[in-house]
Amino acid sequence: MTEKELRVRKIRDGTVIDHISAGTALGVLKILGLSGKEGYTISILINTPSNKLGKKDVVKIEGRELNPKEVDKIALISPKATINIIRNYEVVEKQRVSLPPIITGFPRCVNPNCIINSREPAPPSFKVISKEPVRIRCRYCNIIMEFEDILANI
Ligand code: CTP
Ligand code: ZN
Repeated sequence: MTEKELRVRKIRDGTVIDHISAGTALGVLKILGLSGKEGYTISILINTPSNKLGKKDVVKIEGRELNPKEVDKIALISPKATINIIRNYEVVEKQRVSLPPIITGFPRCVNPNCIINSREPAPPSFKVISKEPVRIRCRYCNIIMEFEDILANI
């Protein structure tokens, strides 16, 4: 896109998460624990045209640099996402997300009878059994969750 066509302007400092799978930007924000209450200026593009992906989502978070640990969880719903750290308008660091072998802390288990969903819940813990397409297995009840299940439970 040329400057004239930019939908959201460049940011001065912060993080741009680019090449997010189309339609999953709100899930990405949820994974990062950003609700809007934190006060950061956040721009969200959903289903925007992309040369590489056809359509993609983009999230721009001003004044906040994400660290590698928190960004890797994004790979669960958006394996092609790129993280760009911006300082003084320049991209100073660009990294791909990579899915860790074990996911902890989220999502909720799809099995309503799983101990993760009980009155005294165990902390979510899943083994990644396939990356693309994503498939994870609950380490308590062994149920397998795929993309749509994951997206609905983050
Ligand atoms: N960006 C931004 N503000 C800046 C610098 C970059 O919002 N000050 C955004 C760009 O619009 C783009 C992303 O950050 O969405 C990555 O920037 P850049 O590396 O310049 O773009 P590309 O070369 O197109 O990236 P890639 O090779 O990863 O596709
Ligand atoms: Zn379970």
